[in-house]
Amino acid sequence: MTTNRTFTMIKPDAVADGNIGAIIAMIEEAGFRVVAMKKVLLTPSLAGKFYEVHAERPFYNDLCAYMSSGPIVPMILEKDNAVADFRALIGATDPSKAEEGTIRKRFAKSMTANAIHGSDSDENAAIEGSFFFASTEQY
Ligand code: RTP
Ligand code: MG
Repeated sequence: MTTNRTFTMIKPDAVADGNIGAIIAMIEEAGFRVVAMKKVLLTPSLAGKFYEVHAERPFYNDLCAYMSSGPIVPMILEKDNAVADFRALIGATDPSKAEEGTIRKRFAKSMTANAIHGSDSDENAAIEGSFFFASTEQY
């Protein structure tokens, strides 16, 4: 089922650098509507839970430490073809490979501190969105 929704988080590096507003401007200019949004600080244990699918990957511990190192801004976004279009807007995971005009090209610093997350499927968008938001927080 296609829901036309995706889930994102502005990551600690981009929040600390004062880039929340510039990133949301790029998201809205690309035609996404903000359905839910907040600023939160994850504990290492909650970050571990969010990234449980990556638990066997070599970068898992660094990723969880990083994602709990400062506040993040999770959001649910809406647009036709949201998941794929948002992945295109954020660009490649490795900022040195991110295309011109993408959020990671402009704001990411490294493979870990890469400014923003974007869900990779409709199913994961729904799971990840419900990790942070109750249905009553989605407008
Ligand atoms: P994301 O989930 O954050 O949108 O990023 P992605 O799909 O492009 O990348 P994914 O494979 O899902 O990895 C999740 C996050 O883990 C960090 N990572 N580090 N050091 C490394 O080799 C490495 N690989 C991935 C990145 O922060 C990536 O966004
Ligand atoms: Mg991913």
